[in-house]
Amino acid sequence: MKERLELLIGQEAIANAVDRLAKAIDRDYQQRSPVVLGILKGSFIFLADLVRAMQTPIQDIEFIRVSSYGSATVSSGQAKILGNISEATIANRDVIVVEDIIDTGITTSTLLQALQRYHPASLKLCALLDKPDRRRQPVTVDYLGFTIPDRFIVGYGIDFDQSYRQLSAIYTLKEL
Ligand code: PRP
Repeated sequence: MKERLELLIGQEAIANAVDRLAKAIDRDYQQRSPVVLGILKGSFIFLADLVRAMQTPIQDIEFIRVSSYGSATVSSGQAKILGNISEATIANRDVIVVEDIIDTGITTSTLLQALQRYHPASLKLCALLDKPDRRRQPVTVDYLGFTIPDRFIVGYGIDFDQSYRQLSAIYTLKEL
């Protein structure tokens, strides 16, 4: 199968957004050291850039796998939490969940509900991208980079069938 990529958000725009989000977090977390929790795999590049742009001391960086998609470009409608996160990591901590994209909202709403059961001191969501047209579960995004239209995208951690994650910018993908 062949695909065509078209640039949607370039490297400079991404870097500016990451900087803006890091500064907003720095303002909000004075005197606090949050736990940063990345959702694998898509958030790995965004998280790596975000934490390096932040001045706030970070207590811990953790990752968890939550999978909602198979190899198709349509959501399966179900999220599964595939990794374990210890209660001690979350309880009484200020937790920032970092996600590359909010689409249906199923992944993040599933995870945020699960994390609330461990009674974090606070729980916030930072996402680079939001596709509100696709929402099926309500999600509050506390720190958001870009709102984007309902197109299939790849790059900067986001895949199509596990490919294209390494691209430095974000592209729309069309199957030819
Ligand atoms: C993608 C993306 C988000 C999720 C968003 O992950 O990274 O985690 O889908 O979709 P939703 O809002 O409809 O739940 P995916 O499950 O494809 O796994 P990956 O991060 O390993 O690519």
